[in-house]
Amino acid sequence: GKVAVLMGGTSAERDVSLKSGKAVLNALCAQQIDAFAFDPAERPLTDLLELGVERAFIVLHGRGGEDGAMQGALQTLGVPYTGSSVLGCALAMDKVRTKQIWQSMHLPVAPSVVIRVGTEHWDAEQILLQLGAKVIVKPALEGSSIGMSVADNASELDAAIKEALGYNSDVLVERWITGKEYTVALLNDEALPAIRLQTPHQFYDFSAKYQANDTQYHCPAGLSDADEDYLRQLALAAFAALDGRGWGRIDAMRDEQGQWFLLEANAVPGMTEKSLVPMAAKQSGLSFEQLVWTILAQTLE
Ligand code: DAL
Ligand code: MG
Repeated sequence: GKVAVLMGGTSAERDVSLKSGKAVLNALCAQQIDAFAFDPAERPLTDLLELGVERAFIVLHGRGGEDGAMQGALQTLGVPYTGSSVLGCALAMDKVRTKQIWQSMHLPVAPSVVIRVGTEHWDAEQILLQLGAKVIVKPALEGSSIGMSVADNASELDAAIKEALGYNSDVLVERWITGKEYTVALLNDEALPAIRLQTPHQFYDFSAKYQANDTQYHCPAGLSDADEDYLRQLALAAFAALDGRGWGRIDAMRDEQGQWFLLEANAVPGMTEKSLVPMAAKQSGLSFEQLVWTILAQTLE
C-alpha cells in the first residue's frame, strides 16, 4: 500500500528532518515501494486519508513530530506509523521527564537542576555550587543540541538559562561530565553496535552534528566486550523505561573514572546518510535500504 514519508514539520529541526526524509524516501523508492513525501507543515493531515495512505513513515524531528502529537493524530486517523507510541515519544522528547523516570529506576544520570518555563528568577551561584563549577544547559524539548550551551560562571549561566528558556520549554542544567560520548541505536528490541563521537568542539553541538567535517565517528566504539555489552544493555533498559518501540537512539557518556551516564533518548533519530543509526546499522551488516525497510515493516505488526 501507499506510504507517506512524513518530513519537514514546524520544529527547529525542520531542515534536518527534510534531509532525513529525503534519504528515507529515496531508499523506499529504490525498493519499488509506493512512497511519497508529505510535509504536515504544508497541508492538513487529513489529506492522508484522501490520498489513500495506508502507512506513515515518521521522519519528523522535534516538537509536533517526535513528541507524540503526530503519533496521536495518526492513531486517531487510523493510519499505522513507524516507531514509538504517543507515550514513548512524549516522554523521550522531554529531557526532564526522561531523567525523572531513569532516576526512579536507578539508571545512571548526571546531577541536574530544572528551571520551569516561565521562571524569571534563579540563583546561578547556588546552582553552580550545587552541581559543580561547570554545567551544560539544555531546553528540555529540543533536539540536535539546539539552544544548548556550556557555562562555568554565574553570568554565563544566567545567559545560558535565558537562551534556553527562549525555546519555550523547561530547562535542564546538568553537571558537566568530562569524558567520552557514545550513542546506541535500537532496532526491534536489539541494541546495535555502539558509536563513539569525538569532536574538537566543546561538545557535540549542532555544527559538529551537521556542518563540521572534523567530527570523528568510531564504530566499533573501541570499548572492551564487557563495556560494549554493558552499554548496550543500559541503552535497551533506558529505551524500554520510556516505552520506546521499534527504533530509536540513546545517547550516553562515560567519565574519566569509568562511570556511565545516560544523556537522553531520541524517538525519531536522524536518518541522513551521515547519521548515527544508519552508521550503526551498517556496522551490524544492514544497508541503509535494509534499515529503512526494517523500520517500515514495524507498521505491519
Ligand atoms: N535529534 C536528531 C535528529 C537526532 O537525534 O539524530
Ligand atoms: Mg535528542
